[in-house]
Amino acid sequence: MAKDFSLMEDSNRSSNPSIHDMSVTSRRTVLFGGLGALTSGFLAPLSALGGAAALTACATNGMTGGPLLGFKSVPISTADFVTVPEGYTVQVIAPWGDPVGLSGDNHAFKDDGSNTAAQQETQIGMHHDGIHYFAQKGSKSGLLAMNHEYTDEGLLFADGMATWTAEKVRKAQAAHGVSIIEVEEKGGKWQVVNPSPWARRITANTPCAVSGPAAGHELLKTAADASGRRVLGTINNCASGITPWGTYLTAEENFANYFSAGDNPSAHERRWGLRKGGAGGYRWHEHDARFDVVKNPNEANRFGWIVEIDPANPNSTPMKRTALGRAAHEGATIAMTKDGRAVVYMGEDARFEYIYKFVSRDTMKTGGAAANITLLDHGTLMVAKFNADGKGQWIALTHGQGPLTAANGFADQGEVLIKARQASDLLGATKMDRPEWIDVDKQGWVYATLTNNSNRGADKQPALDTANARANNTMGNIIRWKEDGDFNGTTFAWNQFVLAGDPSLERSDAKGNIKGDMFACPDGLWTDARGVLWIQTDMSTSAMGKGDLKNMGNNMMLAADVSTGDIRRFLVGPSGCEITGATATPDGKTMFINIQHPGESPSERSDPKNPSAISNWPDKKPGGRPRSATVVIRKTDGGIIGT
Ligand code: FEO
Ligand code: CA
Ligand code: CA
Repeated sequence: MAKDFSLMEDSNRSSNPSIHDMSVTSRRTVLFGGLGALTSGFLAPLSALGGAAALTACATNGMTGGPLLGFKSVPISTADFVTVPEGYTVQVIAPWGDPVGLSGDNHAFKDDGSNTAAQQETQIGMHHDGIHYFAQKGSKSGLLAMNHEYTDEGLLFADGMATWTAEKVRKAQAAHGVSIIEVEEKGGKWQVVNPSPWARRITANTPCAVSGPAAGHELLKTAADASGRRVLGTINNCASGITPWGTYLTAEENFANYFSAGDNPSAHERRWGLRKGGAGGYRWHEHDARFDVVKNPNEANRFGWIVEIDPANPNSTPMKRTALGRAAHEGATIAMTKDGRAVVYMGEDARFEYIYKFVSRDTMKTGGAAANITLLDHGTLMVAKFNADGKGQWIALTHGQGPLTAANGFADQGEVLIKARQASDLLGATKMDRPEWIDVDKQGWVYATLTNNSNRGADKQPALDTANARANNTMGNIIRWKEDGDFNGTTFAWNQFVLAGDPSLERSDAKGNIKGDMFACPDGLWTDARGVLWIQTDMSTSAMGKGDLKNMGNNMMLAADVSTGDIRRFLVGPSGCEITGATATPDGKTMFINIQHPGESPSERSDPKNPSAISNWPDKKPGGRPRSATVVIRKTDGGIIGT
């Protein structure tokens, strides 16, 4: 989510100690000690690694030849198109508003914003985000599951928000959620299969089940759902993950923006960023009482979860997995322990919030999604504490342990999970600079993007610590750690993989230490089958081209060689977009990424009278609307992407 960093949630007023007491020497060691520490990890035998690495390794079978970063880097750009290296092609598929492929429901996109709510329910959503290719016929056809994070009502409606009706709220809700589409390659071009028996839209009104320790909790019960086990919809779906049993994980990120609180929000509501009117200006509460916290105080507790979806079963019910805890979840990335337990890493994209991991109690069974339907319902949730000496620990969010007692406001494990932020405050976890995507490399290092935090070190704000060591962190960084032992370890060693920045700037905290092409505000992360770490940026539209970001151009995607630290710019997106979500076919020859919110305005919403003021990508129709879309990247020689 990009619009405006100054509007990003910043709700953590807890006094839990961060690691403020550090010497300059220790700060430098942790900041710049990255590559030395990396060498030992690089030598770790692949056989000693857990599941995520093993999964990646399997996909490399048959993938040979070519240098890791074999392309010529592309320059910074402010052009309103997608720039890729020489020898690569870009094809656009599945833009917002195209039919998703439901049988009998084919409503064409109208570029004046006049599609109805019912039509949007059958069309691809807005603001594409996390994405994954589930192969069906290998690298020739498969399902793409993708998230739709948020909406720009200046583009969604012909008159923007000048009028506001229940129909408009329903259309906005239908543009959120997840799309599942079938795609196939024919003659070197990819297309959406329409109709397809797998096509599906999951929106803010799709029935979802609640599972795990908080299911049925008093704090999840509402007038419409006395069971506390059935929620309508999923929203603000940001990053994604996959499971080795074939399901898709979608993360509910800044859900607080959609809820309007009362005049005097409770401490719990304040801690979760609920404000009168709703911080995101979505105005759903005016026509849907679910989003009015005064009328439905528990509805907001039913969002902020990781939702598991089985894309191969269009009739399956999305499951909100409460054992993984509640947060403004950026994403969920799974690594498997050697004994077959699922470890889920999760960032929370808000300033001064936390990094989590969940370790399943049980081991994965053969038999796919059906056999593992409860695997993510039992286990231990932990929060990260990064210590000043380059070590760290995972602290369990377990009811009855330490301060997580009834006396401190946690009646049971369900309440600990629903109030994971408050629990983490009491446990002294480290307040991070907006932790976003997390991924695991082939050597078992776990990487997390810390997008930025301009409030770091500001007056009355948390001070610097060793893991978040730059004041006014406008540029962001990528931190990484290696677990002691297997992925379920409770201690780890960490360092900074890279500090993003612009070496030409005067301000020392904005220069960074990139070995290669400059970038800022890392957000998306994805390790491909060859071990390339792809980095995607999300400079906010309000900050882009100004201040510390004045030389950065449009948002971009880069490729990193994690063994050398070399980083090379691969792609630059069109004007006003962010780049997010990456996946590829098993042969590595087709990559899918998402271009989110091309043409986004620095103001809160686009101007419906001039929707193409900033971009008219990808249609390039004069006066048309910019549309989020998936881009297909291929090599003209048919080779593997990146070689
Ligand atoms: Fe949805 Fe944190 O980007
Ligand atoms: Ca983002
Ligand atoms: Ca993101």
